[in-house]
Amino acid sequence: MTQLSPSILAADFTRLGEQCRDALQAGADMLHFDVMDGHFVPNLSFGIPVLQSLHKAIPDAFYDVHLMITDPLAYVEAFVKAGASCITFHVESDSPVQQTIDAIHAAGCKAGLSIKPGTPVEAVLPYLEQLELVLVMSVEPGFGGQKFMPVALEKLQALKAECEARGISPWLEVDGGVDAVTGPQCVQAGANLLVAGSAVFGKSDMKAAIAELKQL
Ligand code: DX5
Ligand code: ZN
Repeated sequence: MTQLSPSILAADFTRLGEQCRDALQAGADMLHFDVMDGHFVPNLSFGIPVLQSLHKAIPDAFYDVHLMITDPLAYVEAFVKAGASCITFHVESDSPVQQTIDAIHAAGCKAGLSIKPGTPVEAVLPYLEQLELVLVMSVEPGFGGQKFMPVALEKLQALKAECEARGISPWLEVDGGVDAVTGPQCVQAGANLLVAGSAVFGKSDMKAAIAELKQL
């Protein structure tokens, strides 16, 4: 079944806890937590103290942390301590990939690896067996509300085929411009975990929006 991870980047930060609870109650499977450092991507978002607060307020939620930062390895421990359930970092970051995956696992957390729209699927293949999640970006990371890039569909197909051939089934997550039209295309291509910001928090009826995205 398709799972949905709403990106809180699109939430109303003046009532973040309430919005997260609403999303979970409306059928969201987890919360997508977008961390930006103004260096790996040209934007800043939020970080450790915000995750700490959310985790304290909603301890049972699964926190799907997406690090769009230059040196993810340096922050693994702090994010795990703050409540991360899965930490996804970018293969294009400056941290050594294997060492970062190992550090995430050693801290007792699930590990995900992400590729930007211009990075080929081959970049994640050497690590595939060790990953709980692979994140295919369908926009250039940095901002919510951008247009879906169809190049993600081919990558999801390739990843799905590769996982099937290897007999493994990590989450295949897609992030950026996912809505009621592009979401089903991603699922068709092999995604089993959709990230959606605007298409969840931007809607007045969150429950209907989530049901539509999960194709319920
Ligand atoms: C982009 C972020 C996304 C973004 C998705 O850098 O990683 O998670 O918030 O937002 P929408 O769904 O609005 O494209
Ligand atoms: Zn994200």
